[in-house]
Amino acid sequence: MSTAGGEAMVWVEGAAAIAREAGARLRTFFEQGVETEYKGDVDLVTVADRTAEKLIRERLAVAFPEHGVYGEEGTRERMEGEFRWYVDPLDGTTNFAHGFPQFCVSMGLEQRPAGLDAAQDGTIVAAVIYDPMRDELYTAERGRGAWLNGKPMQVSRIPELAEALIATGFPSRKRHDSPNVHFYHEFTLRSHGVRRAGSAALDLAYVAAGRLEAFWEFNLNPWDTAAGILLVEEAGGRVTNFADGAFALNSREVLASNGLIHAELVGLFEAMFAGRELTPIPTPKEFAKRRAARSALPLTGNAP
Ligand code: IPD
Ligand code: CA
Ligand code: CA
Repeated sequence: MSTAGGEAMVWVEGAAAIAREAGARLRTFFEQGVETEYKGDVDLVTVADRTAEKLIRERLAVAFPEHGVYGEEGTRERMEGEFRWYVDPLDGTTNFAHGFPQFCVSMGLEQRPAGLDAAQDGTIVAAVIYDPMRDELYTAERGRGAWLNGKPMQVSRIPELAEALIATGFPSRKRHDSPNVHFYHEFTLRSHGVRRAGSAALDLAYVAAGRLEAFWEFNLNPWDTAAGILLVEEAGGRVTNFADGAFALNSREVLASNGLIHAELVGLFEAMFAGRELTPIPTPKEFAKRRAARSALPLTGNAP
Protein backbone atom coordinates (compact mmCIF):
# COMPACT_ATOMS: atom_id res chain seq x y z
CA MET A 1 0.00 0.00 0.00
CA SER A 2 1.40 3.40 -0.79
CA THR A 3 0.88 6.50 1.26
CA ALA A 4 1.55 10.01 0.14
CA GLY A 5 5.06 10.94 1.34
CA GLY A 6 3.92 14.23 2.84
CA GLU A 7 1.16 12.57 4.83
CA ALA A 8 3.51 10.02 6.43
CA MET A 9 5.91 12.81 7.33
CA VAL A 10 3.12 14.68 9.11
CA TRP A 11 2.18 11.53 11.08
CA VAL A 12 5.79 10.90 12.09
CA GLU A 13 6.45 14.51 13.04
CA GLY A 14 3.24 14.67 15.08
CA ALA A 15 3.93 11.38 16.85
CA ALA A 16 7.58 12.26 17.45
CA ALA A 17 6.62 15.43 19.32
CA ILE A 18 4.17 13.42 21.43
CA ALA A 19 6.69 10.62 22.11
CA ARG A 20 9.31 13.18 23.16
CA GLU A 21 6.86 14.80 25.58
CA ALA A 22 5.80 11.44 27.01
CA GLY A 23 9.46 10.37 27.21
CA ALA A 24 10.38 13.51 29.14
CA ARG A 25 7.62 12.66 31.66
CA LEU A 26 8.95 9.11 31.97
CA ARG A 27 12.44 10.43 32.61
CA THR A 28 11.20 12.73 35.38
CA PHE A 29 9.32 9.83 37.01
CA PHE A 30 12.43 7.65 36.62
CA GLU A 31 14.63 10.19 38.35
CA GLN A 32 12.11 10.68 41.19
CA GLY A 33 11.38 6.96 41.63
CA VAL A 34 7.83 5.60 41.55
CA GLU A 35 5.74 3.03 43.42
CA THR A 36 5.21 -0.24 41.57
CA GLU A 37 2.00 -2.27 41.39
CA TYR A 38 1.40 -5.78 40.10
CA LYS A 39 -0.93 -6.41 37.11
CA GLY A 40 -0.45 -10.18 37.46
CA ASP A 41 1.96 -12.25 39.55
CA VAL A 42 5.11 -10.58 38.13
CA ASP A 43 3.74 -8.15 35.55
CA LEU A 44 4.46 -4.64 36.81
CA VAL A 45 2.77 -1.31 36.15
CA THR A 46 3.49 2.15 37.53
CA VAL A 47 1.92 5.59 37.57
CA ALA A 48 4.41 6.43 34.81
CA ASP A 49 2.88 3.88 32.39
CA ARG A 50 -0.61 5.26 32.98
CA THR A 51 0.36 8.92 32.89
CA ALA A 52 2.30 8.49 29.65
CA GLU A 53 -0.57 6.62 27.99
CA LYS A 54 -3.08 9.31 29.03
CA LEU A 55 -0.81 12.03 27.67
CA ILE A 56 -0.32 10.20 24.35
CA ARG A 57 -4.06 9.47 24.01
CA GLU A 58 -4.97 13.14 24.63
CA ARG A 59 -2.30 14.51 22.29
CA LEU A 60 -3.19 12.09 19.49
CA ALA A 61 -6.87 13.08 19.77
CA VAL A 62 -5.85 16.69 19.09
CA ALA A 63 -3.19 16.03 16.42
CA PHE A 64 -5.10 13.33 14.50
CA PRO A 65 -8.74 13.44 15.67
CA GLU A 66 -9.86 10.78 13.20
CA HIS A 67 -7.16 8.25 14.18
CA GLY A 68 -7.84 5.34 16.53
CA VAL A 69 -5.67 4.46 19.53
CA TYR A 70 -4.93 0.99 20.93
CA GLY A 71 -2.76 1.26 24.04
CA GLU A 72 -1.27 -1.28 26.41
CA GLU A 73 -2.80 0.34 29.47
CA GLY A 74 -6.35 -0.06 28.15
CA THR A 75 -7.01 2.72 25.63
CA ARG A 76 -9.38 1.57 22.85
CA GLU A 77 -10.60 4.60 20.94
CA ARG A 78 -12.05 5.06 17.44
CA MET A 79 -11.19 1.45 16.60
CA GLU A 80 -13.41 1.42 13.51
CA GLY A 81 -11.46 4.08 11.57
CA GLU A 82 -8.96 3.78 8.73
CA PHE A 83 -5.94 4.61 10.95
CA ARG A 84 -4.94 3.14 14.29
CA TRP A 85 -1.97 3.91 16.57
CA TYR A 86 -0.56 1.00 18.58
CA VAL A 87 0.90 2.62 21.68
CA ASP A 88 3.24 1.23 24.31
CA PRO A 89 3.64 4.24 26.62
CA LEU A 90 6.53 2.59 28.51
CA ASP A 91 8.17 -0.44 26.96
CA GLY A 92 10.53 -1.84 29.59
CA THR A 93 8.46 -1.33 32.75
CA THR A 94 10.39 -3.94 34.73
CA ASN A 95 13.65 -2.13 33.93
CA PHE A 96 12.04 1.22 34.79
CA ALA A 97 10.75 -0.05 38.13
CA HIS A 98 14.22 -1.33 39.07
CA GLY A 99 16.07 1.83 38.02
CA PHE A 100 17.65 0.09 35.01
CA PRO A 101 17.77 2.78 32.29
CA GLN A 102 16.55 0.84 29.25
CA PHE A 103 12.99 1.72 28.21
CA CYS A 104 11.14 3.72 25.59
CA VAL A 105 7.87 5.04 24.17
CA SER A 106 6.65 3.14 21.09
CA MET A 107 4.00 4.30 18.59
CA GLY A 108 3.17 2.52 15.31
CA LEU A 109 0.45 3.66 12.89
CA GLU A 110 -1.59 1.05 11.00
CA GLN A 111 -3.65 1.90 7.91
CA ARG A 112 -6.70 -0.35 7.58
CA PRO A 113 -8.62 -0.16 4.29
CA ALA A 114 -12.42 -0.05 4.57
CA GLY A 115 -13.97 -3.51 4.78
CA LEU A 116 -10.85 -5.23 6.16
CA ASP A 117 -11.74 -8.15 8.41
CA ALA A 118 -11.14 -7.37 12.12
CA ALA A 119 -8.73 -10.32 12.36
CA GLN A 120 -6.61 -9.15 9.42
CA ASP A 121 -3.66 -6.78 9.56
CA GLY A 122 -3.60 -3.53 7.66
CA THR A 123 -0.25 -1.93 6.82
CA ILE A 124 2.04 -0.21 9.29
CA VAL A 125 2.75 3.13 7.63
CA ALA A 126 4.56 5.20 10.25
CA ALA A 127 6.67 4.45 13.32
CA VAL A 128 8.19 6.35 16.22
CA ILE A 129 10.25 4.95 19.11
CA TYR A 130 11.82 7.31 21.63
CA ASP A 131 14.48 6.43 24.21
CA PRO A 132 14.41 9.33 26.69
CA MET A 133 17.55 8.26 28.59
CA ARG A 134 19.75 8.55 25.48
CA ASP A 135 17.61 11.13 23.68
CA GLU A 136 17.41 8.77 20.68
CA LEU A 137 14.45 9.13 18.35
CA TYR A 138 13.86 6.34 15.83
CA THR A 139 11.40 7.04 13.02
CA ALA A 140 10.22 5.34 9.82
CA GLU A 141 7.78 6.04 7.00
CA ARG A 142 6.60 3.15 4.82
CA GLY A 143 8.47 3.20 1.51
CA ARG A 144 10.61 6.21 2.44
CA GLY A 145 13.18 4.94 4.97
CA ALA A 146 14.11 4.87 8.63
CA TRP A 147 16.08 7.39 10.67
CA LEU A 148 17.85 7.72 14.01
CA ASN A 149 17.77 11.34 15.20
CA GLY A 150 17.18 12.35 11.59
CA LYS A 151 20.06 10.32 10.06
CA PRO A 152 19.17 7.42 7.74
CA MET A 153 19.47 3.99 9.36
CA GLN A 154 20.65 0.75 7.74
CA VAL A 155 20.72 -2.76 9.15
CA SER A 156 24.16 -4.34 9.58
CA ARG A 157 26.04 -6.23 6.84
CA ILE A 158 27.18 -9.13 9.04
CA PRO A 159 26.48 -12.26 6.97
CA GLU A 160 26.41 -15.10 9.50
CA LEU A 161 25.13 -15.98 12.93
CA ALA A 162 28.62 -16.92 14.15
CA GLU A 163 29.58 -13.23 13.90
CA ALA A 164 26.30 -11.79 15.09
CA LEU A 165 25.17 -10.04 18.27
CA ILE A 166 21.49 -10.79 18.78
CA ALA A 167 18.73 -10.24 21.33
CA THR A 168 15.62 -11.78 22.80
CA GLY A 169 13.15 -11.27 25.63
CA PHE A 170 11.11 -13.38 28.02
CA PRO A 171 7.47 -12.91 28.96
CA SER A 172 6.62 -11.66 32.42
CA ARG A 173 3.34 -13.60 32.39
CA LYS A 174 3.16 -17.40 31.94
CA ARG A 175 6.94 -17.73 31.99
CA HIS A 176 6.62 -21.46 32.74
CA ASP A 177 4.91 -21.82 29.35
CA SER A 178 7.79 -20.41 27.30
CA PRO A 179 10.43 -22.65 25.68
CA ASN A 180 12.63 -19.65 24.99
CA VAL A 181 15.42 -20.57 27.39
CA HIS A 182 16.32 -23.46 25.02
CA PHE A 183 16.56 -21.03 22.08
CA TYR A 184 18.50 -18.58 24.24
CA HIS A 185 20.99 -21.35 25.00
CA GLU A 186 21.49 -22.52 21.40
CA PHE A 187 21.74 -19.02 19.96
CA THR A 188 24.25 -18.09 22.69
CA LEU A 189 26.48 -20.99 21.67
CA ARG A 190 26.31 -20.06 17.99
CA SER A 191 26.74 -16.26 18.03
CA HIS A 192 28.77 -13.50 19.64
CA GLY A 193 26.07 -13.43 22.30
CA VAL A 194 22.41 -12.89 23.09
CA ARG A 195 21.39 -9.70 24.90
CA ARG A 196 18.24 -9.66 27.00
CA ALA A 197 17.84 -5.98 27.74
CA GLY A 198 14.11 -5.86 28.60
CA SER A 199 12.56 -3.57 25.96
CA ALA A 200 11.34 -5.35 22.83
CA ALA A 201 10.68 -2.08 20.99
CA LEU A 202 14.25 -0.90 21.59
CA ASP A 203 15.59 -4.33 20.60
CA LEU A 204 13.82 -3.93 17.24
CA ALA A 205 15.09 -0.36 16.91
CA TYR A 206 18.64 -1.65 17.55
CA VAL A 207 18.29 -4.19 14.73
CA ALA A 208 17.23 -1.34 12.45
CA ALA A 209 20.20 0.76 13.62
CA GLY A 210 22.67 -2.07 12.88
CA ARG A 211 23.60 -2.47 16.56
CA LEU A 212 22.15 -5.98 16.63
CA GLU A 213 21.90 -8.48 13.78
CA ALA A 214 18.64 -10.04 14.96
CA PHE A 215 15.93 -10.18 17.62
CA TRP A 216 13.28 -12.79 18.37
CA GLU A 217 10.60 -13.21 21.01
CA PHE A 218 7.70 -15.59 21.66
CA ASN A 219 4.93 -13.63 23.33
CA LEU A 220 4.67 -10.08 22.17
CA ASN A 221 1.67 -7.81 21.65
CA PRO A 222 0.95 -5.38 18.79
CA TRP A 223 1.95 -2.38 20.94
CA ASP A 224 5.43 -3.95 21.43
CA THR A 225 6.07 -4.65 17.75
CA ALA A 226 4.05 -2.32 15.47
CA ALA A 227 6.62 0.49 15.35
CA GLY A 228 9.76 -1.65 15.54
CA ILE A 229 8.91 -3.92 12.62
CA LEU A 230 8.53 -0.94 10.28
CA LEU A 231 11.88 0.45 11.47
CA VAL A 232 13.57 -2.87 10.64
CA GLU A 233 11.92 -3.23 7.23
CA GLU A 234 12.62 0.35 6.23
CA ALA A 235 16.25 -0.02 7.34
CA GLY A 236 16.59 -2.93 4.89
CA GLY A 237 15.97 -5.84 7.27
CA ARG A 238 13.46 -8.67 7.33
CA VAL A 239 10.60 -9.46 9.74
CA THR A 240 8.71 -12.78 9.76
CA ASN A 241 7.38 -15.40 12.14
CA PHE A 242 9.73 -18.24 13.17
CA ALA A 243 8.77 -20.28 10.08
CA ASP A 244 9.65 -17.47 7.66
CA GLY A 245 5.93 -16.76 7.13
CA ALA A 246 4.44 -13.28 7.08
CA PHE A 247 4.61 -11.47 10.40
CA ALA A 248 1.17 -10.66 11.83
CA LEU A 249 0.51 -8.18 14.62
CA ASN A 250 -1.46 -10.79 16.54
CA SER A 251 0.78 -13.77 15.85
CA ARG A 252 2.72 -12.90 19.01
CA GLU A 253 6.02 -14.31 17.70
CA VAL A 254 8.52 -12.16 15.87
CA LEU A 255 11.84 -12.81 14.16
CA ALA A 256 13.58 -9.68 12.89
CA SER A 257 17.03 -9.58 11.34
CA ASN A 258 19.37 -7.81 8.99
CA GLY A 259 18.04 -10.18 6.30
CA LEU A 260 21.45 -11.73 5.68
CA ILE A 261 21.27 -14.16 8.61
CA HIS A 262 17.50 -14.73 8.40
CA ALA A 263 17.58 -18.10 6.59
CA GLU A 264 20.14 -19.42 9.07
CA LEU A 265 17.94 -18.39 12.00
CA VAL A 266 14.79 -19.87 10.45
CA GLY A 267 16.69 -23.13 9.81
CA LEU A 268 17.72 -23.31 13.44
CA PHE A 269 14.16 -22.63 14.64
CA GLU A 270 12.88 -25.41 12.39
CA ALA A 271 15.50 -27.88 13.60
CA MET A 272 14.94 -27.04 17.26
CA PHE A 273 11.14 -27.31 17.03
CA ALA A 274 11.75 -30.77 15.54
CA GLY A 275 13.97 -31.67 18.50
CA ARG A 276 17.29 -31.47 16.62
CA GLU A 277 20.33 -29.26 17.29
CA LEU A 278 19.80 -29.29 21.05
CA THR A 279 23.19 -29.14 22.76
CA PRO A 280 23.03 -30.88 26.16
CA ILE A 281 23.57 -28.67 29.22
CA PRO A 282 25.09 -30.13 32.40
CA THR A 283 22.58 -30.30 35.26
CA PRO A 284 23.56 -28.20 38.30
CA LYS A 285 24.32 -31.50 40.10
CA GLU A 286 26.69 -32.69 37.35
CA PHE A 287 28.33 -29.28 37.27
CA ALA A 288 28.76 -29.28 41.07
CA LYS A 289 30.62 -32.60 40.79
CA ARG A 290 33.01 -31.23 38.16
CA ARG A 291 33.53 -28.11 40.22
CA ALA A 292 34.36 -30.10 43.32
CA ALA A 293 36.81 -32.26 41.31
CA ARG A 294 38.48 -29.11 39.93
CA SER A 295 38.84 -27.48 43.33
CA ALA A 296 40.64 -30.60 44.60
CA LEU A 297 43.44 -30.05 42.02
CA PRO A 298 46.46 -27.79 42.70
CA LEU A 299 46.55 -24.45 40.83
CA THR A 300 48.64 -24.75 37.64
CA GLY A 301 48.41 -21.23 36.28
CA ASN A 302 46.91 -22.59 33.07
CA ALA A 303 43.57 -21.50 31.72
CA PRO A 304 40.69 -23.83 32.84
C1 IPD B 1 7.90 -6.05 27.84
C2 IPD B 1 9.25 -5.75 27.23
C3 IPD B 1 10.17 -6.94 27.35
C4 IPD B 1 9.57 -8.17 26.72
C5 IPD B 1 8.20 -8.47 27.32
C6 IPD B 1 7.28 -7.25 27.15
P1 IPD B 1 6.51 -4.00 28.90
O1 IPD B 1 7.01 -4.94 27.66
O2 IPD B 1 9.14 -5.40 25.88
O3 IPD B 1 11.40 -6.72 26.71
O4 IPD B 1 10.43 -9.28 26.95
O5 IPD B 1 7.66 -9.58 26.62
O6 IPD B 1 6.04 -7.53 27.74
O7 IPD B 1 5.61 -4.85 29.74
O8 IPD B 1 7.70 -3.54 29.63
O9 IPD B 1 5.77 -2.92 28.19
CA1 CA C 1 5.87 -3.63 25.95
CA1 CA D 1 4.41 -1.20 28.44
